[in-house]
This record gives sequence, C-alpha cells and structure tokens, in this order.
Amino acid sequence: MTFGTTARLLHWIMAVLVLAMIAAGLIMTQEIERPLQDRLFIFHKSCGAILLVLVAFRIAWRLTHPAPPLPDSVPPLQKLAAYATHLGLYVFLVVMAVSGYVRVTSGGFPIDLLDAIGIEPLLSRDEARAEQAKFIHATAKYGLIVLIALHVAAAAFHGLVLKDGVFSRMWPPVRPAKQDG
Ligand code: HEM
Repeated sequence: MTFGTTARLLHWIMAVLVLAMIAAGLIMTQEIERPLQDRLFIFHKSCGAILLVLVAFRIAWRLTHPAPPLPDSVPPLQKLAAYATHLGLYVFLVVMAVSGYVRVTSGGFPIDLLDAIGIEPLLSRDEARAEQAKFIHATAKYGLIVLIALHVAAAAFHGLVLKDGVFSRMWPPVRPAKQDG
C-alpha cells in the first residue's frame, strides 16, 4: 500500500519549504548584513504564510485520507515510533507556523505576501503576546529539528539499508501508475 499523488506532492513541497524556512530562520536571526537579513525576513514570513495554509490543508487531507498501513515486516514497536514521530511532526509544524504568525502580527510587523494580496492581520498589536509567541517559536524549533532528523534517518534506513518498500510509499512525488493505495 502506498500514498497517493496529493499526499506525496504535499509531503515533498512542504519538506523543501520547511527546510528552507529553518535555514532562513537560523541565518536571519544572526548578526548578518542588513540587506540580506531583510530579504531573508521577507522570504521567511511570506513562505511561512504559505506554509500555514499548506499545514492546515495537509492535516485536513490526512484526516480524510488515512495513511496506508506499514508492511508486516515492520515490527510493532517501530510502527508505534513512526506513528509518534509523524504525529509530533504535525504538532510542531502547527506550533511553528502559528507562533510565527502570532509573533509577527502581534508585534505589528508586515507579512509582505499577505499585504500584497490584501489580507489584513487577524490579530491586533500586543507586545506581551508577541514576546510569548517569539519564545515559543524559538524554543519549538529544537523539537521540529530533532523530529525531522529522526524522520530522515528512518527514511534513509528503509530506503538504503532495508530496501523494504517503505521509502517508495512516499517517493517519487507523483505516484507511479503501477502502485496501488
Ligand atoms: C513551519 C513553519 C516555520 C518554521 C519551520 C520556522 C522556523 C524558524 C526558525 C528556525 C527560526 C529561528 C529562531 C531562532 O533561532 O531564534 C525562525 C524565526 C522567525 N520566524 Fe519562523 N518558522 C516558521 C513559520 C513562521 C511564520 C508563519 C512566520 C510569520 C509569518 C515566522 C516568522 C519568524 C520571525 C519573525 C522570526 C525571527 C525571530 C523573531 O523575532 O521572532 N515564522 N523561524
């Protein structure tokens, strides 16, 4: 059993965007040249707004399209670990996307992409809320990074060592015609 094309496309598009967001976030919060910092902030906030929508859509998709079961060759404890990691990834993605949005809008800062298409901020200015969201955003990144590392290591182990078909449930990004699910 394998994932369909919508789940695969969402997975790989979000994988690229989230890795770019983490890299941009980590670089732009250092003391770097101002023009580069400004560009990274604009990228991070605008891409973050897109991710907010994608995360919501992906959760809705996952709830209405359950994941195909892992093969019987995967031991029960590993199945549980995979389930917990995937659940954790969803939770941390929501926390990161929402805390980023709350931090920026409560701080009274612009989100260029949303401003350009005329979407007003949903929250009014509130410095205390902005600081709390900033703390959550900066702290939750560690959880997200650890879970991504575990997820990539497990995927690489299945794809390169076990070669048990688990990796090809999600790769390539478009489901090959001969696979089911
Ligand atoms: C899955 C989505 C997101 C990921 C993975 C992510 C990741 C990160 C990371 C790793 C940092 C560096 C934090 C640090 O080291 O202190 C950061 C900072 C930041 N992010 Fe995000 N982010 C996401 C969504 C957003 C969104 C939606 C916004 C706003 C629209 C946003 C706005 C910011 C801002 C303004 C900072 C600078 C720190 C601050 O002043 O709060 N992020 N992000």
